[in-house]
Amino acid sequence: EELTLIRKFEHIEHCLKRNVQAHVSNGFEDVHFVHMSLPEIDKDEVDLSVEFLGRKFDYPIFIAGMTGGTRGSQLAGKINKTLAKAAQELNIPMGVGSQRAMIRKPETWESYYVRDVAPDVFLVGNLGAPQFAETMPDRYGIDEALKAVETIQADALAIHLNPLQESVQPEGDTQYRGVLNALAELRAEFPYPIIAKETGAGVSLEVAIRLEGIGIDAIDVGGLGGTSWSGVEYYRAKDEMGRNMALRFWDWGIKTTISVAEVRYSTELPIIATGGMRDGITMAKALAMGATFAGVALPLLKPAVKGDVEGVIKILRRYIEEIRNAMFLVGARNIEELRRVPLVITGFTREWLEQRIDLGEYLRER
Ligand code: FNR
Repeated sequence: EELTLIRKFEHIEHCLKRNVQAHVSNGFEDVHFVHMSLPEIDKDEVDLSVEFLGRKFDYPIFIAGMTGGTRGSQLAGKINKTLAKAAQELNIPMGVGSQRAMIRKPETWESYYVRDVAPDVFLVGNLGAPQFAETMPDRYGIDEALKAVETIQADALAIHLNPLQESVQPEGDTQYRGVLNALAELRAEFPYPIIAKETGAGVSLEVAIRLEGIGIDAIDVGGLGGTSWSGVEYYRAKDEMGRNMALRFWDWGIKTTISVAEVRYSTELPIIATGGMRDGITMAKALAMGATFAGVALPLLKPAVKGDVEGVIKILRRYIEEIRNAMFLVGARNIEELRRVPLVITGFTREWLEQRIDLGEYLRER
């Protein structure tokens, strides 16, 4: 148990002090808006609100889950409450980090609890897919899922899919057999929405189709190009072999751009585009490609560990104003119209997508 808590603490430390980002981009440099010299709208009529799982949000940004239950729990609690205050202020959704520590050590629940400071926030709990595998001793089921959501009064549950991170980590849970079946069973009984989320290696169209097939409610693509979990594990590796493995797989995965296109093309599911989203123009591109939200984790960690709510809000407001400006410059009054503006896709992303989907159809139907 102690190990889980220490591990989560080390993750935050490395994320703050080292470069843990992918060495490759998330791909949005290959996606281009066509500037519109006659927008025929006023900038101040641009409406950034979106609907998701029956709720309305003021802005299309999602604070991706990071923490909870770290050693002492105080740091994690501070991070989550700081993020939650910002989310409450802006009316945007947020997730907490993996609640595995809480399932094992219920006394850590407070580090995930934010309802006292964020009564209205759309809050997403978080458990890991390997815990549901058929080969996992004491595998999770509906009881743990209910506990995760209800202890913190969350509105939905995210199940993180993280085979890359587990596979390059010495103590990793590399059991993944029977996860899809377990999630199908959970979906059938569970009264809350379930979001499947990757953690930096992206979701392919094949996986998205399976997730939609069992009734999963939304996908956070968690694509390549932002925080690299192999990168984080590289710094934690205890020996040469471990360091080599983590370094080798540092940039493994499906870029965020590509994952958004594959999932949008192959399913009807709402999409959260997370993974290396660092400015509002990039976020506007993801929204134009069919995502409902851009998700952000790492950039918010620094102000959050200091309890700096205004610092978190300042970063988010910068993204919001950049999205608004991009929408003005393509003449999109709202996110629905943004999905219909022309996009030009070039380079590596075009080459990839031409082999995987009907690019013309995707661009018409997104
Ligand atoms: C994460 N992420 C994460 N995801 C998850 O499902 N459960 C978790 O416990 C964590 N923990 C976590 C800790 C820290 C410090 C970071 C930075 C991230 C992954 C996160 O939700 C997101 O998918 C990725 O970080 C990609 O987004 P960014 O960081 O590139 O914006």
